[in-house]
Amino acid sequence: MSNRRDFIKKAAIGAIGIGHVLSPINANVKISKGFVTAKKANKPLIISTWNHGLAANKEAWEQLKKGSSSLDAIVSGVGIPEADPKVRSVGYGGLPDKEGKVTLDACIMDHNSDCGSVSFLQGIKHPIAVAKKVLENTPHVMLSGKGALQFAVSEGFKEENLLTLESRKRWEKWLENSKYQPVINSENHDTISMLVLDKEGNLSGGCTTSGAAWKMHGRVGDSPIIGAGLFLDNDVGAAAATGLGEAVIRTAGSAMVVELMRQGKTPFEACKEIVERIYNKHKNHKDMSFLQVGFIAVNKKGDYAGYSLKPGFNYAVYDSENGNHMEDSAFKMVKK
Ligand code: GLY
Repeated sequence: MSNRRDFIKKAAIGAIGIGHVLSPINANVKISKGFVTAKKANKPLIISTWNHGLAANKEAWEQLKKGSSSLDAIVSGVGIPEADPKVRSVGYGGLPDKEGKVTLDACIMDHNSDCGSVSFLQGIKHPIAVAKKVLENTPHVMLSGKGALQFAVSEGFKEENLLTLESRKRWEKWLENSKYQPVINSENHDTISMLVLDKEGNLSGGCTTSGAAWKMHGRVGDSPIIGAGLFLDNDVGAAAATGLGEAVIRTAGSAMVVELMRQGKTPFEACKEIVERIYNKHKNHKDMSFLQVGFIAVNKKGDYAGYSLKPGFNYAVYDSENGNHMEDSAFKMVKK
C-alpha cells in the first residue's frame, strides 16, 4: 500500500505555475494493471483520500452512527487530520506558503446542492467547519482571506497560530536551498476529500487542505472551488479531487466526473476519462514531474472508484460490510 510520502516524492510540483515549462515530451503511457475498477458498497458509505482518510472515516462513521447529519460527520471526520500536526498538508501543521504563512482552503456540499467554502483563510484550525457556517449562515457560497477570517471569528472560531515548529523548520530549510523562481519544488501536498453516501442514499462531500507547500502568498487551489475540488449532484453522484489544484481547476475536474456519470459512465470510467483529459492538456510539458492528480467518485447506487495520473494515490473506504480500509487507486502511469 502506498503512502502519502510516496505521492509527495513522485509528484513534486512547481508551486508557482506551470506555464513556464512547456516543451514536448515522448511519454510512455500505460494503464495500471491489477486494480479493481468497479466496487459496490452498502449504504452508508464513506470514502476519503489518502491514509489520513482512515482516521477521518472512523470519526465520520461514529458521527453517522450517533445520528449526526452527513455534514456534521464530514466536519468531524476531516477535522481529525485538520487538527493533527503530523499531517502537513491539511489544517494545523500544514506546510506554509513561500512567506511562511499557513493558508487554508476548504469546501462542503450537501444533497440539496447547498454549499459553503472558504479560501486563503489564515489562523483558523478547522476551515471545513467555517465552510459549513458559510453554507448555513450566509447567503453566499464562498468567503476568502480577511473576510473569511472576520466571519470565522464572528462565528466564535478561535484565531491561533497554525505554523508548528516542525513546519517552520521545513520552511526555513526550503528557504536555504530554494530560489523564488518558477521551478519544480521537492514538496507537494495532499488534500483530504471525503464523500458520503448516507443510508437514505443522499450524497454529500467536503474537502480541506493547506494547499501546495511554498506556494505564492494568495494562491488558492481547487479544494475550495465547487466544481473543481468537489462536486456532487444528488441525482447522479459525487466526486472529489486531490493533487495539483491548477490542473483540476483548468478542467473543472470534479464537476466533469459527475457529468460523465450522468451520461452513464461508471465512477471508474468517469475518473479515468478526466485524468486522461488532464494528462492530454499537460502532455507537452517537458517535465511532468510537477503533475499529479487523483479523483474519487461514487454514484447513487454505491459504485465507487478512484483513479490517478501516477501511482501512489490511495483512499480510505468505510462501509458496513468491509469496515474501514485502504484501497490503492488505479492510475495512468507516465514514464519519461
Ligand atoms: N489540491 C489542493 C491544492 O492544489 O491546493
